[in-house]
Amino acid sequence: MLLAYCFFILPAQAERGAIMEKIIELKNISKSFDGETVLDHISLDIYDNEFITLLGPSGCGKTTLLRMIGGFANPDEGDILFMGERLNDTPPHKRNVNTVFQKYALFPHLNVFENVAFPLRERGVKKAEIKEQVMKMLSLVMLEGFAERSVTSLSGGQQQRVAIARALINHPKVLLLDEPLGALDLKLRKDMQQELKKIQKSTGITFVFVTHDQEEALSMSDTIVVLSEGRIQQIGTPTDIYNEPVNAFVADFIGESNILDGVMPENFKARFSGHTFSCLDKDFAPGEPVDVVVRPEDVDIVPKDEGMLSGVVTQVTFMGVHNEIIVDIGGFKWMIQTTESVNVGEHIGISLDPDAIHIMKKSKYSGVFGDYSSYSNELDELSDPGGEE
Ligand SMILES: Nc1ncnc2c1ncn2[C@@H]1O[C@H](COP(=O)(O)OP(=O)(O)OP(=O)(O)O)[C@@H](O)[C@H]1O
Ligand SMILES: [Mg+2]
Repeated sequence: MLLAYCFFILPAQAERGAIMEKIIELKNISKSFDGETVLDHISLDIYDNEFITLLGPSGCGKTTLLRMIGGFANPDEGDILFMGERLNDTPPHKRNVNTVFQKYALFPHLNVFENVAFPLRERGVKKAEIKEQVMKMLSLVMLEGFAERSVTSLSGGQQQRVAIARALINHPKVLLLDEPLGALDLKLRKDMQQELKKIQKSTGITFVFVTHDQEEALSMSDTIVVLSEGRIQQIGTPTDIYNEPVNAFVADFIGESNILDGVMPENFKARFSGHTFSCLDKDFAPGEPVDVVVRPEDVDIVPKDEGMLSGVVTQVTFMGVHNEIIVDIGGFKWMIQTTESVNVGEHIGISLDPDAIHIMKKSKYSGVFGDYSSYSNELDELSDPGGEE
């Protein structure tokens, strides 16, 4: 998969928690269904004005967690606090939180205007004010001129924007979005990502966004929460998560990674693939077994005699901006992204700068993710649920 990251780096991220106000606190939340633990002691703080994304594979508990914040499900254990107040038993409509579901749940018999006006009519807002607010909201989601249209005549992206306008019209403190772009084709999805990001920044509403698409999470979020098997694996900015994954699960799930078995003979030295490399990591016990991550774009290709390691190119795929190549180094198939042109069968050397090497503690995910032996670009795209459906 071609990864073209576009990080939104906000100054506020560095001080997450220091200057921002906490809106939601999840404290030790657990939930089981039929004896199966779905959420396992989740603790998470969500801040005002934050675009926070729950990211993880299918079935890891994202929707369950979002439903709890929205008031549609209760934890078995733990507390949910909203601006410091315990909220566990407060029904959804009494929470200052609104939800956009994956299936937009628009009212098919109402036109665009009436769909967006619905929450205001429920509250008995005066007619003139309804008109003003709805038109303002339609302009925010770029649907001016669509007010009288039947929602069933709209495209997926337009329906999505009606659902967002309806969710925003009551000015909730927090908007929950459960894979809201899942049904859209890739191009529309990218456009909507930008639009959602703009809407979030212009309204200042906290967005809790759920996706299993790592590129989407990286490009949109202030903060990403990576979940696996009902547990938080890592919380951080997109750059933190990408550059400093805490374990093999995160390294594998976010972007492409070569994950190797290694040891730390001493501080700033990592040994793997039969070679000792300089790295930037320290504070491991001498000789401690570790997992080593090297991103495909951080590998330099050099003549075979000048390489720290050398191997044979087994596959080359032209990706537009770069070539994605698979290189067999001592039986381990590395993925390397390079702008150099190399050929299948060519013997090449590779060189790694110290900052290309990321050391992680061993975890239950060590050894789970292999090399790129069975890698096929085509298969990757076909099995990518975030792609066109
Ligand atoms: N009401 C329920 N009754 C029984 N099991 C449930 C219920 N809701 C969720 N589960 C189970 O809990 C697990 C987590 O489900 P959840 O919907 O939170 O996953 P998810 O991360 O949102 O996945 P996806 O990306 O596929 O939407 C799944 O194994 C699911 O089958
Ligand atoms: Mg879900």
